[in-house]
Amino acid sequence: MGENSTSQATIQDNTPITVLGLGHIGLPTALGLAELGRQVIGADDDSRKVGLIRGGDPTFYEPGLTELLAQHLKSGRFQPVDDVAAAVRAGSIIFICVGTPQKANGQADLGQVEAVAQVVARNLNGYKLLVEKSTVPAITAQWLKRTIVRYSSGKAYPAPGSAPAAGPMAFDVASNPEFLREGKALEDFFHPNRIVCGVESERARDLLVNLYGPLKCPMVVTNTSTAELIKHAANAFLSMKISFINMVSDLCEKVGADVGAVARGIGLDNRIGPQFLDAGIGYGGYCFPKDLRAFIHLAEEHGVDFSLLQEVEHLNQSRVEMFVGKVRQAIWNLQGKTLGVLGLAFKAGTDDIREAVSLKIIEILREEGSILRLYDPQAIPNTQRVLPASEQIAYCTSAYDVAQGAHALLLLTEWEEFRELDLARLRGVMEVPVLVDGRNLFDPEAVHKAGFEYFSVGRGDPKLAGTHTSPGIALK
Ligand code: UDX
Repeated sequence: MGENSTSQATIQDNTPITVLGLGHIGLPTALGLAELGRQVIGADDDSRKVGLIRGGDPTFYEPGLTELLAQHLKSGRFQPVDDVAAAVRAGSIIFICVGTPQKANGQADLGQVEAVAQVVARNLNGYKLLVEKSTVPAITAQWLKRTIVRYSSGKAYPAPGSAPAAGPMAFDVASNPEFLREGKALEDFFHPNRIVCGVESERARDLLVNLYGPLKCPMVVTNTSTAELIKHAANAFLSMKISFINMVSDLCEKVGADVGAVARGIGLDNRIGPQFLDAGIGYGGYCFPKDLRAFIHLAEEHGVDFSLLQEVEHLNQSRVEMFVGKVRQAIWNLQGKTLGVLGLAFKAGTDDIREAVSLKIIEILREEGSILRLYDPQAIPNTQRVLPASEQIAYCTSAYDVAQGAHALLLLTEWEEFRELDLARLRGVMEVPVLVDGRNLFDPEAVHKAGFEYFSVGRGDPKLAGTHTSPGIALK
């Protein structure tokens, strides 16, 4: 079809955008687009969640989100609704931001994705661009196209195919994967390293390039399967970087090297880069673990050997036992010992505990009979829902409260406020001054000076840490 796509893309500018799913990806995306000046309808079939969002509660912690939500509820550019069908009818660009949880076999569960595609199919009232924002395995877009044709009772055909005789409507499916880190979602929305657009028509390309134009960042425009694969490959590579430095940290401990200095030494090579080389108890969260497994599963479905990524996953899973081993090394028997736990969220800056390594460690300590005093600046409510207070589990109001009578303090989440703690005050209330640092958050010398026995990850002789002098040269 000889479409004059640019003019059509421009015509669409003032039509509302619909975002389906108002979770960690959908809500920041909806509010980010509203901030860019678009009219956005945010739909979620969880009426309770929509009610809370309408009242100004994002329903999860994300820096800056509450303020942006208030701003665009007030401006009217963001409208939260629980009628998904009506939201589909009202929008021309429809972002799919629903959950893609993981099945027992590692496969991504795309049931919610298909469900919204069927709603779109049954509510076609004009051209629609359906955009995958949720992380989905490559070739999902092909399934979305089939689903919309199949459930639209002949009303729809995928652009840029030629229209059958009847007056059915064209639609497009595109892949526009999110790269939002929890705790930095708005920063990543407004200052992305790149925008990836997987499209199959000029019209879809122009609509997305037009939409994201104000962000002025590199755009990778490709086909849908490539865009879907870019997302999985990005998260898999980042996970591999983390497992790599964790593997190296284990060797550092054996040979008295310092993994922080190793990370600096390799990270200064601009082909490696300094980020995601922080050794510790490994990665968690709703993305890396499930995306890695989904990527491996996709490769296995196509008979491609992804054993490298299986090793990445095994290495990460071994960090739990590694850390518990350090606690045993620090305090001997765990039974009956009081352990103060600093940090529950899967990382700093979020209240999210999904696949948090911290909770896996806590579960083992609980089974071993330790008494656990827990604190996290944001994640206590989410944790209490899955780990209620009990004889063995106490929730505390501060890090100092956690340290009361503790035989050891365990640092599991790298919240900045923990870095600022008064170590002498902590030591003063503890039964035994032992600190086991799972994120290398503390400065070994400062901790030793405060009178602690200090255990961390991959740190050799602190005198050598971060020096520019080769370890062979004696330091004064
Ligand atoms: C990740 C990707 O970074 C983001 O681009 C994607 O869109 C969603 O998944 P997120 O899961 O929010 O974001 O967290 P991230 O900051 O990537 O950290 C993931 C995990 O890796 C956390 O548990 C963190 O503690 C751990 N981590 C991170 C390390 O153990 N070492 C590091 O050096 C960095």
